[in-house]
Amino acid sequence: MKLDIQGHSGCDIVIVHNDNELRIHKSTHDPNYVPRLINQANKQIEASKREYQNIRIPFIFEVEHTDRDATIKMEYIYSKNFIEYFENAGFEQIKYLIGAIKYFIDLEINASTIQTVPSCVLTDKMADVARKVSKNKHLQDDEKALELVELSKQVMNSVGDMVMPVGTCHGDLTFSNILFNGNNYYLIDFLDSFIESPLLDIVKIRQDTAYLWSTLMYGKPFDKVRLSIVSEKIDKAIDEYFSAKYEWYRKYYMPLQLMNFLRILQYGHEEKVITYLKQVIEGQLSIINNPKNA
Ligand SMILES: Nc1ncnc2c1ncn2[C@@H]1O[C@H](COP(=O)(O)OP(=O)(O)O)[C@@H](O)[C@H]1O
Ligand SMILES: [Mg+2]
Repeated sequence: MKLDIQGHSGCDIVIVHNDNELRIHKSTHDPNYVPRLINQANKQIEASKREYQNIRIPFIFEVEHTDRDATIKMEYIYSKNFIEYFENAGFEQIKYLIGAIKYFIDLEINASTIQTVPSCVLTDKMADVARKVSKNKHLQDDEKALELVELSKQVMNSVGDMVMPVGTCHGDLTFSNILFNGNNYYLIDFLDSFIESPLLDIVKIRQDTAYLWSTLMYGKPFDKVRLSIVSEKIDKAIDEYFSAKYEWYRKYYMPLQLMNFLRILQYGHEEKVITYLKQVIEGQLSIINNPKNA
């Protein structure tokens, strides 16, 4: 059976019949990826212990692994992907989704504690990005990309220590990792984050609602106008909600969103994607350096 959105991790994803039910087996045969997949399963199991309104987590039956292979065996979810869902959803359903996202992130915030993330976390990450860009053959001679990296370094140097909630997050909360089933939303594909903060989940969801990232990866035709209207509505609601509530969101969202796109850029290899990323990063730098451009 072929799935509509294959993720980008390179894992094998197959649907398996087990007695009368269907299961998903997600596996890797890359020894370097084994710890990451096991970690993903552990994060998913941890997250499923909490109760969320409308947000669900697929049940994991078993995690099998050796040094070289790992397989997560989990519940199969009958669902739509975000594009199919948004094409048919009315505003009432979109309101539900917005409520569920806010509720999920607020629960994560409550499960975290306010901590100081030292400035070196950002500056070290930035140095790492600069190194990877200089080694990436699609970017190392791209003057625009190198200029954007230099300007970003200045931004990251000026952020300083960040005081924000740290403790729990999904780690890759984009629309491509949400399975839509009526008014229930299933989260999959948990990931380690370089700062385990709910703020990073807001950054990831807004990677889609503000910048439509996952649509770039979508292979089939879809109604772009409708998708951007729906995304904008969700984006505005999330941004207004967290802006009104949390100073750390107002202060650190933009630099962390910039870092998020830089970390995608560092591995860029498709021209279409690199062009898009440079445009996004340039826009972000212009907002950070002059908030009136927002
Ligand atoms: N539990 C599940 N039930 C149904 N479909 C799933 C499930 N897990 C994954 N999928 C399908 O596989 C796709 C990729 O899964 P994901 O875990 O995001 O992989 P990747 O790490 O490669 O991004 C999903 O978008 C979805 O279509
Ligand atoms: Mg995925």
